[in-house]
Amino acid sequence: MQTPRTKISEALTLDPPRADLRVKGWVRSARASKNVVFIQINDGSSFSSLQIVVDKAIENFEAIKHLTTGSAVEVVGALIESPAKGQRVELKATSVKIVGKADDKYPLQKKRHGFEFLRSIAHLRVRTNTFGAVFRVRSVLAQEIHNFFQARGFVYVHTPIITASDAEGAGEMFRVSTLDPRDPPRDDKGAIVYDQDFFARPTFLTVSGQLNGEAFALGLSDIYTFGPTFRAENSNTTRHAAEFWMIEPEMAWYDLEDNCDLAEAFVKHLLKAALERCAEDLEFFNKRIDKGLIQRLEHVLNSGFERMSYREAVDKLAGSGRSFEYPVHFGANLQAEHERYLTEELVGRPTFVVDYPKEIKAFYMRRNDDDRTVAAMDLLVPKIGELIGGSQREERLEVLERTITEAGLDLEHYQWYLDTRRYGTAPHAGFGLGFERLVMYVTGMENIRDVIPFPRTPRHCDF
Ligand code: 4AD
Ligand code: MG
Repeated sequence: MQTPRTKISEALTLDPPRADLRVKGWVRSARASKNVVFIQINDGSSFSSLQIVVDKAIENFEAIKHLTTGSAVEVVGALIESPAKGQRVELKATSVKIVGKADDKYPLQKKRHGFEFLRSIAHLRVRTNTFGAVFRVRSVLAQEIHNFFQARGFVYVHTPIITASDAEGAGEMFRVSTLDPRDPPRDDKGAIVYDQDFFARPTFLTVSGQLNGEAFALGLSDIYTFGPTFRAENSNTTRHAAEFWMIEPEMAWYDLEDNCDLAEAFVKHLLKAALERCAEDLEFFNKRIDKGLIQRLEHVLNSGFERMSYREAVDKLAGSGRSFEYPVHFGANLQAEHERYLTEELVGRPTFVVDYPKEIKAFYMRRNDDDRTVAAMDLLVPKIGELIGGSQREERLEVLERTITEAGLDLEHYQWYLDTRRYGTAPHAGFGLGFERLVMYVTGMENIRDVIPFPRTPRHCDF
């Protein structure tokens, strides 16, 4: 019987000597001399590769001398203590099978490549050190999101991807339609007749699962979503993608302060889990991508997040003596430059800004007693800016009807949502955390395109 395969992450932890170990992976580099070939192979199970030593007694030694980077191989051999510096163990091969040869045009040769070039080969970049690490961290964080909420009795809800409601009221939705774009049915005024479309009404990809999440929270108390969301906003920045993943918890009986408390515990849980479970990958990011990363994450774990009102934030920005590109005054949207000044320079750690003017926030946020501000909260973090956006929700039917109308939205479309306020309305709150921004924060990667497997941004939908 063949010995089963051992993952490289495991092989690297075994105590030598161990005979008859079988590993499978892709060649990161191969260095041949007359009598011996050293091969580094990696199967993605760990950051480190395993060194394979092949000597000329191996039957296909000549072929192995010409082994190319990127090839898939299966190796059987003895795990021994490595006589050389650089690794604890190595595998002395007794057989090497070339499973899939990579031809010489394989674009990932040993030299370092720029991230921009690697984006053009997103189907292969996962075989590099950096992207292997990014996607292992991403996977661990995804699981920890469930761990955090499940341990607290939250119910995981799958909210729809196709929707007729604009949850943010910002009109940034991708249309979903089966009408023939070259010849859609039109009425006598020339307007497209959506009655004949698949859903017999205009439909879109969702920008947020929040409205559905609210309905579930007003029945299950504590829920969360974790799924893809879509925004047709034409912003070409390092922090915006047209398709991104969002986590949206929604809690009945929570007010804005409870909401901030939960968000702080959530972010800290995720940082702690990453430090514990992704130590080897984070060491790499700390050394090669973002010096000081680990220390910064540890510092955040051990300090309270700052909380300040929007008014206070505006006053501090105005009094900072800085000349910002966008001027600040009460009522102005905080731009990235303002957010970063607040969290990076003024406070030096994550900062909640709460109670924003109603004009710059969404219709569903609870109106404060001053009638000028809403119970909103954004969490700003160094290097990223806005990581979380959330609020207490407007639970009063008449106020909500008014804010929907004032936002220029069609009340008809929100009748089901308003039902949740007609039948047993209750105070509730929630927030949305952008998953890619979290992965950027934890890894120090600076471009959202480099933390999602196949990024979708304006004019880019490859792979
Ligand atoms: O602030 P946003 O728009 O809030 C909502 O969607 C609410 N419905 C959330 C809620 O209260 N349930 O988005 C939430 C977060 C932002 O803070 C940001 O981290 C991320 O989602 N985000 C994006 N991430 C990547 N690309 C984009 N285009 C993003 N837009 C928002
Ligand atoms: Mg926001």
